[in-house]
Amino acid sequence: MLKNIVLLGATGSVGSSVLDVIRLYPQRFRLLGFSAWFNIDKAVAIIKEFSPFFVVLKESHESLPLLYPSITFLYGEEGLKYLAELSDSHTVVSALLGMSGFIPALTALRKGKDLVIANKEALVAGGAFLKEASKKYGGMIIPLDSEHLALFDLLRGKDLKEIKELVITASGGPFLNREVDSSITKEEVLQHPTWNMGANITVGSALMINKGLEVIEAMRLFDFPEDKIKVYIHPQSIIHGALHTKGGHWHLLASPVDMRYPALHSLFYPDYPEEAPFGDYNPTKKSLEFLEVDYKQFPLLALARHVAREDGVLPTVLCAVTEVAIEQFLLGNIAFYKLPDLIQELVYAYPNKNNITEEDILIADKKSKILSLERIAYHGDDLR
Ligand SMILES: NC(=O)c1ccc[n+]([C@@H]2O[C@H](COP(=O)([O-])OP(=O)(O)OC[C@H]3O[C@@H](n4cnc5c(N)ncnc54)[C@H](OP(=O)(O)O)[C@@H]3O)[C@@H](O)[C@H]2O)c1
Repeated sequence: MLKNIVLLGATGSVGSSVLDVIRLYPQRFRLLGFSAWFNIDKAVAIIKEFSPFFVVLKESHESLPLLYPSITFLYGEEGLKYLAELSDSHTVVSALLGMSGFIPALTALRKGKDLVIANKEALVAGGAFLKEASKKYGGMIIPLDSEHLALFDLLRGKDLKEIKELVITASGGPFLNREVDSSITKEEVLQHPTWNMGANITVGSALMINKGLEVIEAMRLFDFPEDKIKVYIHPQSIIHGALHTKGGHWHLLASPVDMRYPALHSLFYPDYPEEAPFGDYNPTKKSLEFLEVDYKQFPLLALARHVAREDGVLPTVLCAVTEVAIEQFLLGNIAFYKLPDLIQELVYAYPNKNNITEEDILIADKKSKILSLERIAYHGDDLR
């Protein structure tokens, strides 16, 4: 069956991997619509190659509707919402960044669409609402993040009651074996040892906050408690996830360090591809190491675990604060080694609230971003 796909965040790093899959299987997938935000050149290239019917951009661009009259152009957050609920689409793929993905994901699920989701912040902050909508309207939530897709795949046909621990791996980032001090440059932070990803998540990985968000993401997706989700440092990034069963078995999933693999498998779900279009490879050719995490070395992973246990609006605050702090780091306003203390300070400054509504999530996102920017301005040059 030909599936109509809506791709949110098509111009990003994950978006490109998803397009690589759609391009290879024109009999199976059709790009009905996509969103870009600032990157108009890439949006135009996607229009030319895939001839979609709907395109969402941040703001209107007068020339584009004239150049492509058969396409409906929409703009801003309303445009994203419209795209998420298009009646002709079957699957919405969300590769959006940060909290911008929450409302579109919720909208898609409330229209009964299947949601393939890489956008971890939406799950971390509003996972309970996404799960509820999935249950109520029948659309599935299929993870695209490599660790969660690994767990999702390994769990097929299994009962969670058999599982003692869920395991996700972390490369350890560029500073696994190096002390983090004032000498670290932005270029070094952006040199991820194994993955090639967008700038935001690359900084998040260097801080290990990304792995903390993934622990919460796994809690949401699999209804599993925080203390039963284990993280191992695995510098080769070949094993993405594992199940440790109560009976003493370990089931591990290996695949190359390439987001096209989880994109391929999540789009094909529930089928398995009959070929490996991005190359087959043999993981036994590598020696694989697994190390315990040193939580003193990576305090933000400990912070995320604390936030997971507290729950309420704090997971939203953690996402929002991290987004702002990383943006400010990328702008050159904060030194990398100052980020862990700053993020902890900003998260602890926010009062938690439990028994939350969707509205609480949106308010906490906005408020904590404003407060974070104020605090960063207050610290000024001390953060550089
Ligand atoms: N990169 C990876 O390998 C990877 C792996 C697993 C999970 N993830 C998760 O996947 C998500 C996307 O990551 P990425 O690395 O692909 O990010 P990215 O390269 O920065 O791409 C983000 C996409 O979202 C769009 N966008 C940015 N801000 C937006 C906003 N406020 N409203 C609407 N659209 C917006 C961008 O549009 P423009 O470029 O046109 O401005 C772009 O299409 C993140 O949640 C990340 O944690 C990423």
